[in-house]
Amino acid sequence: MTKICISIVAETVESIYEKTKTALRLADLVEVRLDHVRDIKKEDIIKILVKSPENIIVACRSISCGGNYGGDEESRMALLFEAIERGAGYIDIEIESSKQDVMEIISKAKERKTKIILSHHDFKKTPKFNELQKSYDEMNSFQPDMIKIATFAESINDCFKIFELLKGKENFIAIAMGVRGWMTRILAQKYGSAITYASLEPGNASAPGQITFDELVNLYDFKGQNKDTKVLGVIGEHAENSKSKFLHNPNFRRLGLNYVYFPMKVRPSELAEFMHNFRMLGFAGSAVTVPHKEKIVDFIDGLDETAEKIGATNTLVVREEKILGFNTDYIGALEALKEKTSLQSKKALVIGAGGAARAIIYALKKEGCEITIVNRTLDKAKALAEEFETDCDEISELRQLIRKSDIIINTTSVGMNQNPEESLVPEEFFTGKQIVMDIVYNPIETKLIRYARIRGCQTITGDRMLMYQAIGQFKHWTGKNLDIDQINEDAKKLLE
Ligand code: ATR
Repeated sequence: MTKICISIVAETVESIYEKTKTALRLADLVEVRLDHVRDIKKEDIIKILVKSPENIIVACRSISCGGNYGGDEESRMALLFEAIERGAGYIDIEIESSKQDVMEIISKAKERKTKIILSHHDFKKTPKFNELQKSYDEMNSFQPDMIKIATFAESINDCFKIFELLKGKENFIAIAMGVRGWMTRILAQKYGSAITYASLEPGNASAPGQITFDELVNLYDFKGQNKDTKVLGVIGEHAENSKSKFLHNPNFRRLGLNYVYFPMKVRPSELAEFMHNFRMLGFAGSAVTVPHKEKIVDFIDGLDETAEKIGATNTLVVREEKILGFNTDYIGALEALKEKTSLQSKKALVIGAGGAARAIIYALKKEGCEITIVNRTLDKAKALAEEFETDCDEISELRQLIRKSDIIINTTSVGMNQNPEESLVPEEFFTGKQIVMDIVYNPIETKLIRYARIRGCQTITGDRMLMYQAIGQFKHWTGKNLDIDQINEDAKKLLE
């Protein structure tokens, strides 16, 4: 079983003690980072290790090892020796310390039943697999109780090196740091890391990419996971902003399904390798978001009829080792629009010409709308208009086009929280008679939606489409229908 360790970073002894007390009530282990405590002295150790010292990992990283301890090596070692004296359950010491110090601390710890975690951190990159294995072998030659390797994930594909490294090893902790390494923290149980680290509260992480204990346990149900847990995620360039994890995970738990769903942050240049790994590791499926909805088709085994017609997929499902693409954006957009309006013979203006636009145009067309497409890159709008037999126009004509339209839909990612102050439509372009829908849901009230509201338009926020398309995805992955009232409740929470 993987142990959960809350890592504590604080500047005073009192604060580290208080936080440790709280963390001990929650987690299996607590790591105290002495290096962040101002002017830490040997005498302070006893004040920190008052409660359950056997469940406490003491670490004191020097600046050269990515920590905050500015004192000399002798005083740093003295703090660690004192922690052993005071009954600390574990000491984390870096392999970069002197060989003699490492050997001394290991033999001292043995006398006191303290366990030694010999660690190596690389805050810049994840080296090649062979180099990681070499680091492991070097550390293993000291015969510590545990070995820890934490590297920085420059790409999500670095996570797969970590999983490979974990294979067949016991008492080994391996983590990829940073948002691109999230998977190694969330799936630590499935792939056999001895410990996964979490922070006590948001903004208090001791390493990049550390998620909170609350998120790990209550959202990703870490304690309920095991080797058989089926892996799902959302593949996107900015997937960390996705909120769909709040819709899917609670419902797996409510229905007793052994699945976990989390953001998979993938750059376009990493997609081919990522999909290879996805296949090799037997992931169960995924959602697909900006900007991969079209390109990902090159790396899967087939599309269902609707996704084929749309030419984009937002849902992958693995069946009999084949990765199949579906499209639930189309039904999600329709359901969201139908909450506010009928569609037959309405004039709809679609802004954008990417994968999401394709699904929405397909939906509008099916319902009998007259469609005009505008896009930053006119050629893409033209190509789409030709394919779906609709009109297109120059984005410079936006004002006139909006006046003539009943429904306006932004299908681009403009207004998402990397650029929340942007709107492709200025406020004065809306006349109040349009129904305005944005597919961006983070933030819920985008600038576009705000402008539309100010001008008296009816609006449809992105969470409505998110919710309806998620219902379709859930069915594809699990075969189960979601309770609509329940998911409405879940979606409402996204607004809080
Ligand atoms: P997806 O497949 O998820 O819809 P995409 O294919 O990258 O993602 O499509 C993104 C859409 O948003 C495109 O229409 C894009 O316009 P271009 O075709 O000109 O690239 C549009 N888009 C993205 N950023 C934009 C911006 N800053 N201004 C205007 N349009 C933008």
